[in-house]
Amino acid sequence: MPEILIAPSILNSDYAFLGHTIRRLEDGGADILHFDIMDGHFVPDISIGIPTIKSLRKFSKLFFDVHLMISRPLFYAEKCIAAGADRLTFHVEAEDDPREVIDEIRRLGCGAGLAVKPETPASAVFPYLDSLEQVLVMTVEPGMGGQSFMPDMLPKIAELRKKAPSLNIQVDGGINAQTALFAREAGANILVAGTAILNSADFGESIKSIRGKM
Ligand code: DX5
Ligand code: ZN
Repeated sequence: MPEILIAPSILNSDYAFLGHTIRRLEDGGADILHFDIMDGHFVPDISIGIPTIKSLRKFSKLFFDVHLMISRPLFYAEKCIAAGADRLTFHVEAEDDPREVIDEIRRLGCGAGLAVKPETPASAVFPYLDSLEQVLVMTVEPGMGGQSFMPDMLPKIAELRKKAPSLNIQVDGGINAQTALFAREAGANILVAGTAILNSADFGESIKSIRGKM
């Protein structure tokens, strides 16, 4: 299984202090920064967008993992990559032809990921596994932070890990020290966590607890 990596999501941060929060995440040992872009169409809410990525790109050297919860990812891929995304993950449910989007992302020199909503089976991404840097298994309904982890997603993680032993499997939604343990045991290696880290007093300690090394 690939290395365990922790990817804090800044979705629920206080945006007046975003730069400060990112420095604290860097100092706390975050491996990756996870950005959630929402369009008010694929999911009900609207969050940050391309200008935010662009400004932060000059500010942080961390790996930028961009999670597109949007319709028409093909249309936005180039702008997101130009803004500084290191990896672009879109939802398999969002486009009729995921292959076209993956090819475009890779043509632009970026890593591609595919995300699956809770009701979408793992088999939806099977045809694309050889072209992907990661599969993102949503462990809540996409659209907001602070929801409870859905344990019935664990077999989906295990199924993907069996099918692709060296692939990055990312989990996103309701991850804390306890649920991270279940997700790691099922085979996930990239753990996204928003509120569990941002609401903690010591980012370094909460990152360590999610990594499973105290
Ligand atoms: C939710 C987003 C997540 C969110 C996770 O749709 O994709 O990345 O920020 O937040 P928590 O960890 O609080 O569930
Ligand atoms: Zn996310």
